[in-house]
Amino acid sequence: MTKINKEAKDEGSDLVDSLTDTHLTETINDLFGAGTDTTITTLHWTIAIMAEYPDIQKKVAIEIEEVIGHDRLPSLEDRGRLPYAEATMMEVLRFSSIVRLGVPHATTCDVMLDNFQIPKDTMVVINHFALHFDEEFWDQPKCFKPEHFLDDSGSVRQHPNSFLPFSTGRRSCLGESLAKAELFLIFTWLLQNFESAWWQR
Ligand code: HEM
Repeated sequence: MTKINKEAKDEGSDLVDSLTDTHLTETINDLFGAGTDTTITTLHWTIAIMAEYPDIQKKVAIEIEEVIGHDRLPSLEDRGRLPYAEATMMEVLRFSSIVRLGVPHATTCDVMLDNFQIPKDTMVVINHFALHFDEEFWDQPKCFKPEHFLDDSGSVRQHPNSFLPFSTGRRSCLGESLAKAELFLIFTWLLQNFESAWWQR
């Protein structure tokens, strides 16, 4: 039995065992709703940050120029070959923290977390913003520094502590890999072809 059908059964609905047009429409609606505004807002932040930090913009553009040049567009196969660009994009996700308090969830049973007892049916919210600006884990969290995501050898730190822009667990963002792919492509295409007049002078 699908989850939708189980919900329909729990609600005593006669839609059990059928996937209706409403389910389909609402599911597509969810995907567009959750997937469009988030990606667009992150790209708005990216452009604003690149305008604010032209030195970083220039470093990303030079990396793209050296690794890819201008004869072709960057592709997803280039991930891993553009560590500074990738680290910059991850730093945008941290610095912007666009989904600041995630989506509210609820406990389905009594839970002990460290020394905290959380009763069944309590609303639980992850404070992503606090995680991303925690001074215990980030050196100068209020500064925009792509180096936050680079290790000593210059490789990208894919899963640093205290970094959950897409949340975690069973209900974490369904579109994480799609969003990361879109952001990487649009960001690198933009900086391959856009040269700020400011640093050309
Ligand atoms: C920068 C882009 C994005 C960010 C920062 C982001 C972040 C998040 C976060 C924090 C959640 C809440 C997870 C939770 O409840 O704990 C979420 C849920 C979700 N996201 Fe994204 N998201 C992005 C892009 C996308 C895209 C492109 C899609 C799909 C095309 C998508 C689909 C969804 C869906 C369907 C959920 C609900 C998952 C569930 O409740 O099981 N997201 N997202």
